[in-house]
Amino acid sequence: MIIRDATPADAKQACQVLRDSIVELCSADHRDDPVILSRWLANKTPDNVAAWAVASGRALLVAVEDGAILAVGGLTHAGEITANYVAPAARFRGVSSAMLAALEQRAAAHGAASCTLLSTETAHRFYLARGYRDEGPSVGKFGTAASYSMVKPLRVQE
Ligand SMILES: CC(C)(COP(=O)(O)OP(=O)(O)OC[C@H]1O[C@@H](n2cnc3c(N)ncnc32)[C@H](O)[C@@H]1OP(=O)(O)O)[C@@H](O)C(=O)NCCC(=O)NCCS
Repeated sequence: MIIRDATPADAKQACQVLRDSIVELCSADHRDDPVILSRWLANKTPDNVAAWAVASGRALLVAVEDGAILAVGGLTHAGEITANYVAPAARFRGVSSAMLAALEQRAAAHGAASCTLLSTETAHRFYLARGYRDEGPSVGKFGTAASYSMVKPLRVQE
């Protein structure tokens, strides 16, 4: 598996990974509620993903194995992790851990002192185990019961 910058040519497959991951893995968050799902999925379109891949001040990364995209990660250069989604078939193989490390490395390279993110209920324990802590109260997003605002200080790069 390699992790590399996404290109607009990845948009269709990367978008499908985002959508499958939300629908199939995040049921603790959306509880199969069609209203929550439609809000959450609304901006996950191939055109938007292609635009994120070339947007300035941001990075969009894909984890790829044998031509298949296994995970998609998004980051602002200021250190906000905007997406971290794994394909359902690639879950629990270390792919999201590798993606998170790549996103943190990229943020540090851009001079960010910390990474921040809004975690799903589904991924909360994953981030706690990887050095993130909750900051502030949980806030529902898209109508979900809870999303966790989290932060992790980064090691300053010499
Ligand atoms: C939870 C999730 C992020 C983990 O990604 P992954 O690629 O499967 O994770 P890895 O294989 O790198 O690491 C496995 C970790 O998942 C967590 N985990 C294990 N079983 C789990 C379960 N049943 N439910 C939730 N998390 C679990 C643990 O933290 C585990 O790490 P550990 O074995 O060191 O304790 C992923 O499976 C998932 O459900 N993603 C859905 C999309 C999402 O919520 N993304 C985050 C948006 S902020």
